[in-house]
Amino acid sequence: MQKLGIGAMTICAVASLAMSFSAVAQAPARNAWDGVFTADQATQGKAAYDNKCSICHGAELLGQEMAPPLSGGLFLGNWSGQSLNDLFARIKTTMPASDPGSMSSAETAMITAYILSFNQFPAGTTPLPTDEAGLSTINLTAEKPAGK
Ligand code: HEC
Repeated sequence: MQKLGIGAMTICAVASLAMSFSAVAQAPARNAWDGVFTADQATQGKAAYDNKCSICHGAELLGQEMAPPLSGGLFLGNWSGQSLNDLFARIKTTMPASDPGSMSSAETAMITAYILSFNQFPAGTTPLPTDEAGLSTINLTAEKPAGK
């Protein structure tokens, strides 16, 4: 009986190890509510936003005319369930609409950090990554997940 018990425990341990490996390989490991940008980055992002984005999206990120809001339920609903890389890539490749593709990855990351901060996501101690590999591991959810 005891031998069987240890065997079952081993199988369990192997199974959960395999699951945690696949989680690292595929599923986003972090969430935007975990403090995924620094306050400095968001402050720099505000300056860049005011300079390059607010003319269309508004100083309060509410949108105007053709430009959609970058804050609130409608905006978060559009992006909830995607990775931060999806939002980052959307901004970097298509914005500012008047000069798409003109921003560096670092500048895009600052502005993304500011948009997150404006939407009440908390700042943390590590800056938002500027590369796809880092950004695609961070999941964006409109609601703060339970326990965070
Ligand atoms: C010249 C006006 C203009 C400027 C400047 C501009 N945008 Fe936009 N933005 C738009 C318009 C219009 C849309 C919707 C149509 C489209 O996607 O082109 C849009 C869409 C977006 C979206 C998608 C929103 C959603 O939920 O679908 C994001 C994100 C965004 N802009 C971010 C930015 C950021 C960040 C900047 C500054 C770097 C910026 N925009 C500058 C006009 C602008």
